[in-house]
Amino acid sequence: MKTDILTSYGDFAHDISEVIISEQQIQARVKEIGAQISTDYHGKCPVLVGVLKGVLFYMADLLRVITIPSEVDFLAVSSYSNEARNKGVVRLVKDLEIPIQNRHVLFVEDVIDTGLTLNYLLRSLREREPASLEVCVLFNKPRRRLIDIPLKYKGFDLPDRFVVGYGLDHQERYRNLPFIGLLKPEAFQNPNHLRECG
Ligand code: IMP
Ligand code: MG
Repeated sequence: MKTDILTSYGDFAHDISEVIISEQQIQARVKEIGAQISTDYHGKCPVLVGVLKGVLFYMADLLRVITIPSEVDFLAVSSYSNEARNKGVVRLVKDLEIPIQNRHVLFVEDVIDTGLTLNYLLRSLREREPASLEVCVLFNKPRRRLIDIPLKYKGFDLPDRFVVGYGLDHQERYRNLPFIGLLKPEAFQNPNHLRECG
C-alpha cells in the first residue's frame, strides 16, 4: 500500500514506510478465527486469556465476533534483565482473576516471536489444571522461534521484521494504528508522534 493512503490515519502514520497487513485483511481474518472458535468451543464457555498490553485490540475485536458465551481475563508481565528474558523467565505483575481449573482456556496472543515468553506463561497456566489450553495467535514470526509451540489458531505469518500497529508498539507508541506496518528508519530517532505529546 502506498504511504499517501496513510494520511487518513493521522499525522503519526507518516512514520510508517510500508503497510504489511491492511486493516481490512486483519478484520477479515479475525472474523474467520472468531467463527472457528465459536464452532470449536460450542457449549464449553472458554476463558480467553491475554497478556497486556499488546493483545488489547485483537482481544476486543475477537470477542466481538465470537458468538458463544465466553469469558475474558488478563495477565500482565514485566521482563527481567535481557539475560533472564533469554531464558524465558518473566515476572507476573498481574495474575488472572478467574480460576481456570477445569476450564477451557484459550491463550490469545498478538505476536509470537521467539516463543520464550509464551512458553513460560503456558507452563504456569498448565499447573492450574485447565480442562484444555490452546493458543490463538494473530501474528506469528516463525523465523525466530526458539521453542516449538502448537498454535491452534493463527492469523498471519510475518517476516522477521520489527512491525508496529494493531497493538504492537515501539516505545509504547503506534499501538492504535489499525494495520501492521514497518517504521521508517528515521522514526526510530525522531518520531513525529513525540512532537505531538510535547
Ligand atoms: P517472544 O515471543 O518471547 O520473543 O516475545 C514476544 C513479544 O515481543 C511480544 O509480546 C511483543 O511484546 C514483542 N514483539 C515481538 N515482535 C515485535 C514487533 O515486531 N513489534 C513490536 N513488538 C514485538
Ligand atoms: Mg504479547
